[in-house]
Amino acid sequence: MKFFIDTANLDEIHEAYDLGVLDGVTTNPSLMAKEGISGDENVRAHYKAICNIVDDKVSAEVIATDFEGMIREGKELAKIDDKIVVKIPMIKDGVKAIKYFHSEGIRTNCTLIFSSGQALLAAKAGATYVSPFIGRLDDISFNGLELIEQIVHIYQTYGFATEVLAASVRHTMHLIQCAEIGADVVTCPLKVITGLLKHPLTDSGLAQFLADHAKVNSK
Ligand code: E4P
Repeated sequence: MKFFIDTANLDEIHEAYDLGVLDGVTTNPSLMAKEGISGDENVRAHYKAICNIVDDKVSAEVIATDFEGMIREGKELAKIDDKIVVKIPMIKDGVKAIKYFHSEGIRTNCTLIFSSGQALLAAKAGATYVSPFIGRLDDISFNGLELIEQIVHIYQTYGFATEVLAASVRHTMHLIQCAEIGADVVTCPLKVITGLLKHPLTDSGLAQFLADHAKVNSK
């Protein structure tokens, strides 16, 4: 299972990368805005800075919503670095754009997936990743994890190469349950990854080991 971090914050990306478990980064226009990144040149420079930190797979989202615009923007984004994965929204022209990029050998991440039908379309078009937003589904009383399970089942049944990238992951149990049901990738905030470290018995056990060692080793 791959771990992606869902942020445009360079410090957080560095921290996750230094932990040695990071496989990629996802961003979106809201996350870029949160970091105050605006203007085409600054956006490109920021994506390059992210690519310089990680080994591969940096999702960069197009803003255009028409086919020609998405192709133009996606090509520009792909030129920034070989690590870029072009992120395309699940809309009609988006499906066509995914098909086009697939034929050009450019990797895509189909975003804003909220149903298994959408995931099926994206896979048929040749998306490298689909991003079902599980937290946003949970927010409106739909079961996000159930959607991941359905998509994993469909892709396995038909042997689709598209990877299921669970997105909008809010807490460690989301991540663990995604692992249990076979999501290929999870993208989440840094605190969800570091949250996996925590267990009170680890803390008390380590404190006891160190205390016992100190007892017989002091003078
Ligand atoms: C995925 O690629 C999105 O950037 C992200 O996971 C959305 O998460 P949110 O619902 O917490 O905004």
